[in-house]
Amino acid sequence: MRLLITNIKQLHNIETNTAITRVSGKDMSVLPYIDNAWLIVENGRIHSFGDMGAMPEVNADETMDATGKMVLPGWCDSHTHIVFAAPRDGEFVDRIKGLSYEDIAKRGGGILNSARRLNEMDEVELYDQSLARLQRVMAQGTGAIEIKSGYGLCLEGELKMLRVIRKLKENVKIPIKASFLAAHAYPVEYKQDKEGYIKLIIENILPIVAAEGLADYMDVFCEEGFFGIPETERLLDAGWKYGLKPKIHANQLHYSGGVQVGVKHKALSVDHLECVEEAEIESLKGSNTMPVLLPGAAFFLGMHYQPARKIIDAGLPVCLATDYNPGSCPSGNIPFLLSIACTQLKMTPEEAVNAVTINGAAALELDQEMGTIKVGKRANLILTKKIPSLAYIPYDYGNGNVDKLIY
Ligand code: NIG
Ligand code: FE
Repeated sequence: MRLLITNIKQLHNIETNTAITRVSGKDMSVLPYIDNAWLIVENGRIHSFGDMGAMPEVNADETMDATGKMVLPGWCDSHTHIVFAAPRDGEFVDRIKGLSYEDIAKRGGGILNSARRLNEMDEVELYDQSLARLQRVMAQGTGAIEIKSGYGLCLEGELKMLRVIRKLKENVKIPIKASFLAAHAYPVEYKQDKEGYIKLIIENILPIVAAEGLADYMDVFCEEGFFGIPETERLLDAGWKYGLKPKIHANQLHYSGGVQVGVKHKALSVDHLECVEEAEIESLKGSNTMPVLLPGAAFFLGMHYQPARKIIDAGLPVCLATDYNPGSCPSGNIPFLLSIACTQLKMTPEEAVNAVTINGAAALELDQEMGTIKVGKRANLILTKKIPSLAYIPYDYGNGNVDKLIY
């Protein structure tokens, strides 16, 4: 099957030189593109591309005219919790009336509320709901995604979530990575026995998750009031014993030392980073750990935003992801995330797009497969509607300028 796309107004994030695995610092502001381009997809891979002025004779099975439209690599959303059972719109109203995210968690709402609902729901229903969410974000351009467990908080519930993710991997043709996040909150029955829950994760749940090959990564909500530094260290060590690299929640609510602990344990990424200062930035320098910012959660919880400029200006890479979940960010819409990144984090459109393409791919270990327009990579491509410029995507916020995901 050979698809030819012609008259592409701009083909963005092309890669022609030596392999790029991520972009950092000043390089984030560069998004190489070709005006008036063509591109051939063959059997799901990028076969070739170039300038319309020099298009070769092509025998295509299908031709698509992209006059006025842009083509970009599909978004790589490296942090989501899209497998969940029910929305939490009641807590949304409670927060409007003055309760904080932490207040709600302390009274047994929040993650524990989601865990209750998830454990009541059967696997088929959970799968159907999650698939519908996945299909919706794909229509908004998401071409690869990470999904976490963490609303089971017991053996059966965590396995149920991870099996739903496995079924999504089997049935949906975009790359999906699974993270094991049993250490998301202490379940009610372990409130007085935190050590018991850590042991349950390490000695009972993790070995089964690993034996069944249900997870790619190990995650911990490293935060005051959730899992502290010593607990996080034990959990990450246990994950590594089964080959699960850490991808952790860090520094969302406090300067908890989560970033430093992630770097120390060779995390693939440290995610959230609302609370970041010099010490966190210093620890990231010289590491391969990707800082992943989740400004959709800061937006929805009304918190201060992540210091993206400081991180980029320190020469580091920045990745952006949605955090799609029912509590702190009930949206997986990457075009809207780009608008927040540009307006609130003061990232340029080019930086923001790099952060959700090549750097998103890097945070999923998919940089050789996704993230740029390169011959041989997967052709999970975004076709936009007719738009005047790349900047128009974050500018025209909420108005849906992705036409479709080709995959
Ligand atoms: O990334 N912070 C921890 N976990 C999620 C929120 C989960 C929830 O509230 O259900 C997050 O924001
Ligand atoms: Fe999260």
